[in-house]
Amino acid sequence: MASPMAAAAAAAASLSPPPLSAERPIARGGIFFPGSPASSRSLRLQSTGRGGLSQATRKPRSLPRAAKAVVAVKADPLKVMIAGAPASGKGTQCELIKTKYGLVHISAGDLLRAEIAAGSENGKRAKEFMEKGQLVPDEIVVNMVKERLLQPDAQEKGWLLDGYPRSYSQAMALETLGIRPDIFILLDVPDEILVERVVGRRLDPVTGKIYHLKYSPPENEEIASRLTQRFDDTEEKVKLRLQTHYQNVESLLSIYEDVIVEVKGDALVDDVFAEIDRQLTSSLDKKTEMVASS
Ligand code: AP5
Repeated sequence: MASPMAAAAAAAASLSPPPLSAERPIARGGIFFPGSPASSRSLRLQSTGRGGLSQATRKPRSLPRAAKAVVAVKADPLKVMIAGAPASGKGTQCELIKTKYGLVHISAGDLLRAEIAAGSENGKRAKEFMEKGQLVPDEIVVNMVKERLLQPDAQEKGWLLDGYPRSYSQAMALETLGIRPDIFILLDVPDEILVERVVGRRLDPVTGKIYHLKYSPPENEEIASRLTQRFDDTEEKVKLRLQTHYQNVESLLSIYEDVIVEVKGDALVDDVFAEIDRQLTSSLDKKTEMVASS
């Protein structure tokens, strides 16, 4: 029987753009430009009012330019990918981005850990690879992320994809569905800092908050006493994870070349976020300008 996730994905799949082909939307800077099939689609959505798709072809003649832009941005929300080595700060920054931009945070690592916690067959297989610091095979990861990404909340609010794709084949699986980000944030942190961050990381199982014993210690004794450590957060395993990261990250750079923004991740958390925030705002502005000028 199809899972509720699969059913939701199937329903939402009708919202996704066409597969990679001659019809594939032309994306520049991750934004669909006028004249491309996708831009026509987003412009049709722009003019869709509460009346639904039957009004899709009606032109919004009476709307002032600024209002048009807001409607269009709502119809085509922000799509963000964040990548970086283990412990580069992806999860920490995602919490801040989610709070400010209201995007749906989808973490491949968290989805896999949820499978492990549920004791599923996929979880058991995934853990074998995670313990070795290797990528979990595509047949487990690709559908899991795709189904989550295609759920209505992510389609409506926009998404923040954390730790996916991590390989050429994973990126191509999204390309085939016409799924591209507006911006691909790559966090850059020196290896020696990464090891220290991994070894000192702790998680609060009650709130899900990420701590670090030195850089972001728990607020009180009660929280400190319940903190847990991830099974793959040892010095030995992080070295393997780093190796896996460097073997794969290059292959993504060419695919997302036009939307990659590299951000220095070895500053204070708030300073790293300030730069990410600036980049996301600029990305949103570009979407708005593009619609306003069309
Ligand atoms: P995943 O859970 O994604 O792990 P990861 O990529 O190794 O990244 P981390 O979660 O370790 O770190 P992070 O960058 O989120 O850093 P955080 O914010 O927590 O994946 C785990 C495994 O699952 C993989 O190894 C693989 O096996 C498998 N997997 C996942 N995705 C897959 C995919 N797509 N395909 C196949 N397999 C996949 O921060 C770390 C610490 O640093 C924290 O303690 C934090 O408080 C601290 N910190 C953060 N920012 C700062 C700062 N600016 N200054 C000081 N301290 C900071």
